[in-house]
Amino acid sequence: MFTRSTFLKSFVLVLVLQLVVSCNSTEPIVKHVSVTGKSVENIVELMTLAEKVGQMTQADRRYLIDEADITNLHLGSLLSGGGSTPETNNPSSWADMVDRYQDLAAKSRLGIPLMYGIDAVHGHSNVVGATIFPHNIALGATGNPGLVREIAHITAKEVRATGINWTFDPCVANSRDERWGRAYESYGEDPALLAALGQAQVEGYQGASLSDADAIVACTKHYIGDGAPTWTTGKNGKIDRGDAQISEDELRALHLPPYQAAIQGGTATIMASYNSWNGEKLHGQKYLMTDVLKGELGFQGFIVTDWAGIDELPGDYKSDIVESINAGVDMIMVPGDTSKDGYTYREFITKLIEAANEGLIEMSRIDDAVTRILNVKKSMGLLDAPYHNDRNLIPHVGSSEHRAVARQAVRESVVLLRNESVLPLSKDIATIVVAGRGANDVGMQCGGWTISWQGGMGDITPGTTVLDGVQAMVSSSTQVVHSPDGTIVSNADAVIVVVGETPYAEMHGDRDNLVLSNEDIEVINTVKASGKPMVVVLLSGRPIIITDIIEEADAFLAAWLPGTEGNGITDVIFGDYSPTGKLSVTWPTDMSQIPINVGDSNYAPLFPVGYGLTY
Ligand code: BGC
Ligand code: BGC
Repeated sequence: MFTRSTFLKSFVLVLVLQLVVSCNSTEPIVKHVSVTGKSVENIVELMTLAEKVGQMTQADRRYLIDEADITNLHLGSLLSGGGSTPETNNPSSWADMVDRYQDLAAKSRLGIPLMYGIDAVHGHSNVVGATIFPHNIALGATGNPGLVREIAHITAKEVRATGINWTFDPCVANSRDERWGRAYESYGEDPALLAALGQAQVEGYQGASLSDADAIVACTKHYIGDGAPTWTTGKNGKIDRGDAQISEDELRALHLPPYQAAIQGGTATIMASYNSWNGEKLHGQKYLMTDVLKGELGFQGFIVTDWAGIDELPGDYKSDIVESINAGVDMIMVPGDTSKDGYTYREFITKLIEAANEGLIEMSRIDDAVTRILNVKKSMGLLDAPYHNDRNLIPHVGSSEHRAVARQAVRESVVLLRNESVLPLSKDIATIVVAGRGANDVGMQCGGWTISWQGGMGDITPGTTVLDGVQAMVSSSTQVVHSPDGTIVSNADAVIVVVGETPYAEMHGDRDNLVLSNEDIEVINTVKASGKPMVVVLLSGRPIIITDIIEEADAFLAAWLPGTEGNGITDVIFGDYSPTGKLSVTWPTDMSQIPINVGDSNYAPLFPVGYGLTY
């Protein structure tokens, strides 16, 4: 009998069916195929060319034309370039954002989860509230691989808390020239040190297994010779993305060892470099990428390009794609920024499919690239269980335990360059003045690649400044005075002056005259004129020419770019820690000496590699 209730039921059914039909008319019907439990070989056999090409494509989330492209173009990876943050920049909105992208990836036919990459290069440094560690040049001064491993492990935890599973780090550049704006991303100039710290960092990020809940994929970069370009040969007459005019022997001796070590440590990915080697862009160098890296060194992971790195090859975009993939790159960071003459990922995908169909790239090369990418995803556990973002890690982001390790890294990295028996200061000092534009500035301490691409001055993220450190450490009877320009020092028993470089990152940091700003010099001169004992703290990403200035100071500390924990510097100033930091780079006397490195025939720097005083 046709009752009222069955009538209602069928009415509802018809409505539901209509809904389904109307949805299907706008969305393609996807017949899902599960990859769970399948071998990578089987999965590759199942894949269409479009799906393979999708896996090889990495777009910046900022330049997604339509988020549905993640599903419809089967994108294999997304990234957040420097400053590509969610509108509200806090750990849970990052996690929400990544979850949304992963949900879209899960909707594609094979539902393969995304690898999501970010420049967590000194902690999870795009995220407000994360623990920001010192930059690599400072880690080089610690010479402590165990500490570097721990830092990487902590960073991995903070990165995973936000749902992200891949960092574009470590940078194992051997920086030969301080004028390079990325000198601070390098641990130093000794290949053995680069190898030890780079390997430790890889191991710390990746943990015992890439499928661990607090492990992320490392990306050792930038292969190879990024720190060696000759000044004036780069873009705009500078040095970044320039030409390394060096012999193969030198390339192998100074720049290859950290890659051997990183592979030993299991680095799952390696990034190709923007620079050229003797006039030829690395992104097109089959010999170095395929023969040396994958062949000779036995690298089993995959090579990702740098940001629109293939665009710099000669020829049109299609030939860039063909040349770079045939040379050995596996995943292409597109990233889709058309404002800088870049191509969209849609154009990239269309052209790569075209090139493959025309036989310009062998299917075996495409399959090899996809196999390498999926092998990494397999070892991350991404192919065997649905993507799962563990929100339980969120409270660890910027936790006091993590910051304590960052503080340790800061105090171990500070290099004492001069001490005319003024340090350590007593915590019972009656009056102490803290001066200089770096005295109370977390942004300046952090440098580039922090919250935004180039970094910025000011309160960009929670942290402790040198002033905070002083205030927290002195006795209750001590008077602490903050005098940015150093004019209020009349009753001071000691003055700490914090000066240094304004934040910068790649390209923008290239400078041909490494001197302090007039403002910084003025503060130092003002304090000097007062006759009070003066401790100068230099915040910089590289050695600065200080030959005259250092004579004025009673003590001089190179504190590099320490990150959020400025109290690591005051640990040294007040003697809770006797300095152990040693220069990992040569400190030149004047600009005419640059480039200057250990092994040069007339090596007469202001301070040699290995220099550093203690108490
Ligand atoms: C840099 C890389 C970075 C990438 C993604 C490039 O411009 O050279 O170091 O990992 O951008 O932000
Ligand atoms: C991005 C960086 C990238 C750079 C390269 C910027 O817009 O945020 O991550 O390295 O472009 O030019």
